Amino acid sequence: MSEQTLFIVKPDGVQRKLIGEIISRFEKKGFTILKLKMFTFTKELATEFYSVHKDKPFFGELLEYMTSGPVVVTVVEGNNAVATTRQMVGATKSFEAEPGSIRGDFGLGFTENIIHASDSTESFDKEVSVVFK
Ligand code: CMP
Repeated sequence: MSEQTLFIVKPDGVQRKLIGEIISRFEKKGFTILKLKMFTFTKELATEFYSVHKDKPFFGELLEYMTSGPVVVTVVEGNNAVATTRQMVGATKSFEAEPGSIRGDFGLGFTENIIHASDSTESFDKEVSVVFK
């Protein structure tokens, strides 16, 4: 079933020059790129984007990191997009992510984990409305 999802190359991914590599993986997988934008999160926008985590102990660290430099946000479309994208991204803790996934191949971090992807169609609807206002 064709669906849409969103991923964000986070500040560490941009700084490490992984934008092309990451977008290329999605294109080669067969996804269609629908939207693409580079910007830097303000504290307010990052707070809105990550509102589900606002009471978590790591929230301050997460905001600091997400506002530390430019990000690239992309909306893709394809079969089973949400679940397939999460699989391509890998586990949140990069050091535990499967080799072959983006985090598994390029990272060792936890907070700094290269890429974000929507975890459900509901999250996608909310996230796309925040970053493509
Ligand atoms: P992401 O998939 O974007 O969703 C929330 C982000 O918060 C996550 O990736 C990490 O960057 C960060 N994160 C989640 N859990 C923790 C944690 N326990 N400690 C620090 N950062 C975290």
